[in-house]
Amino acid sequence: MPVEFRPSQDEKFGALVVGLDLSGTVTAADLETLRRALPNHRTLRFADQALKPEDFVRFSQIFGRPQPHVLEHLRLPGHPEILVLTNIVEDRSRPNGHNGAAFWHTDNSYEAEPASATMLYAREVPRTGGETLLCDMGLAYRGLSEALRQRCDNLVVRHSYGNRDQDTEHAAGALQGSQLKNVSEVTHPLVQSHPVTGEKCLYAVAASSRGIVGMPDDEALDLLSELKAHCTRPDYTVTHAYAVDELFIWDTILTMHAAAVIDEARDADNTRLMHRISVKGYPSPALAGTASA
Ligand SMILES: [Fe+2]
Repeated sequence: MPVEFRPSQDEKFGALVVGLDLSGTVTAADLETLRRALPNHRTLRFADQALKPEDFVRFSQIFGRPQPHVLEHLRLPGHPEILVLTNIVEDRSRPNGHNGAAFWHTDNSYEAEPASATMLYAREVPRTGGETLLCDMGLAYRGLSEALRQRCDNLVVRHSYGNRDQDTEHAAGALQGSQLKNVSEVTHPLVQSHPVTGEKCLYAVAASSRGIVGMPDDEALDLLSELKAHCTRPDYTVTHAYAVDELFIWDTILTMHAAAVIDEARDADNTRLMHRISVKGYPSPALAGTASA
């Protein structure tokens, strides 16, 4: 059965992928189709998948190299590539990352080589809440005035871990001990061309973006704030609600995202438990042909 992409009828972007069991073998032709479909649709959703952690890690390699997260204490034991996201609080002395992504951001934009895609596998889903908001950075770039687009085109942005707007939004999960040694300031172009499709987009104008090379800080922050407000307008934004056993992937160059704020788990009705993998890089089609998922 060929893989079928069903674009969302209710939302501005995103597609449901039908005809793939991610715990089985995926053909080389399907791998290449998926690799190109992700930037074209921004997000891909696979329903009713039964994945063991090793299946999830293997599947993620279609899109790049799985990366252990800087927050080591949230990694799944035995599978360092998988980050556990939950509102279950088992030990108040250990931060669990609860609401640690409840602000607009771009995964790993504080690193020299940022994530190329992030995927969440939904293990437990609350009856309400627990969504992911995403915005389309390609559409937002094309929606800029000509003058603003030209102003942005050759700028380089300074990034570091955390959320620059934590006075009005949630803060990122705090780094501890040796984690602090693993992050420092990096720079990325403000406007990027997607490595697979060449589409131009604004990149990572929220959270980790702290300044612009060669520009006074107050002017740079005004511009970054203006761009963030532009990109997160309802015209460019979708809200994704999860179903149990669903795998959801987004392109991290062509989107920014924010987790909806959620209360601590009280019972099964409001418990959220997700496994996350972020990958870096873009495997060549030739390499993808030898993989299975
Ligand atoms: Fe994130």
